[in-house]
Amino acid sequence: MRKPVEYTPIWFMRQAGRSLPEYKALRKEGSILNAIKEPEIAAEITLQPIRRYGVDAAILYSDIVVPVHAIGFGVDIKPGVGPVAVDPFKSTTDLARLRSLNAQVDTPYVLETIHRLVDVLEIPLIGFAGAPFTVASYLIEGGPSRSYQKTKAMMFSDKALWDSLLERLTDITIESLISQVEAGASAVQLFDSWAGSLSPEQYEQFVFPYSQRIFQTLSEYSIPRIHFGVGTGEILHLMSSAGADVVGVDWRVPIDEARKRIGPDKSVQGNLDPSILGGDWELISKEVLKILEKNDGQLGHIFNLGHGVTPEVNPDVLQKIVELVHNFRIST
Ligand code: CP3
Repeated sequence: MRKPVEYTPIWFMRQAGRSLPEYKALRKEGSILNAIKEPEIAAEITLQPIRRYGVDAAILYSDIVVPVHAIGFGVDIKPGVGPVAVDPFKSTTDLARLRSLNAQVDTPYVLETIHRLVDVLEIPLIGFAGAPFTVASYLIEGGPSRSYQKTKAMMFSDKALWDSLLERLTDITIESLISQVEAGASAVQLFDSWAGSLSPEQYEQFVFPYSQRIFQTLSEYSIPRIHFGVGTGEILHLMSSAGADVVGVDWRVPIDEARKRIGPDKSVQGNLDPSILGGDWELISKEVLKILEKNDGQLGHIFNLGHGVTPEVNPDVLQKIVELVHNFRIST
């Protein structure tokens, strides 16, 4: 890893999805979880951005709640809202709703989608899972949250229950990621999207050991492992020591500073602010170049957004960003 490259590789989180007219045409109504269960559709949606953008990786069209949905926890994805659980996780009795995942039996459609994709893709396919903390937050809050009040209340008031919940989610995550790699994914990303809501101390105590176990287990598979979260400036060093090969960073920390926090021998992924994608090209191109220049030719940079593509983004802008990044050469 951190191999010399001819140009900086680039892909976009949420590159498939509602910013693409062809996605909206194919996806129509209904829960995204049903679309994910149709390998032909899920594979096609994964490929749509590849045809357009010339990005250097595909990311599987799936979602972080697919495994817990598949084992019957009772979670759905509400359009415009995100994952919702009508009956949230509250007490020890709810642990019974989180049996172990058998990916071949519970999520065969995910593996079939991967098989179809690796047959046709000429670029790497990134598999992924939600990290235990981020998935737990949806199960406990019952939906998206700003404060993570219930999640933190459980952490602090019932450590034994928290540990049991995170242990189970860790096992589920590991099974899901290994099954994706065995089906042909050539890299994985662990999305701990909301870990930035935690202080370093909270992260270290309640989250770190589980994410570390995931990366440790995956280390046997010799594939690049990416770790990503939003607003993680103060915990980047900890996320890095959890064991990934690549640490994703959002726009709040400049990429050179992020690299210092992540430490040597690791790659960094990011970190264009997706909110500027609605601005004019002059501004966007300046920001893209600023990131590339700040990286200063260091090995191990994957260009990406600091978070996902939003539905209102013009796909032509993303295509131009790919060209700009691919044409950039550090002047020496
Ligand atoms: O292109 C890709 O990045 C791959 C596909 C992907 C989806 N979800 C498809 C999706 C990935 C990697 C995810 C991961 C995911 N899901 C995360 C981690 C990434 C992040 O954004 O931090 C999280 C937190 C979720 C939970 C989730 N699922 C949210 C918050 C939403 C948005 C709700 C909405 O409608 O605004 C979803 C739904 C979802 N997952 C969509 C897509 C393309 C959009 C809804 C749809 O098409 O119905």
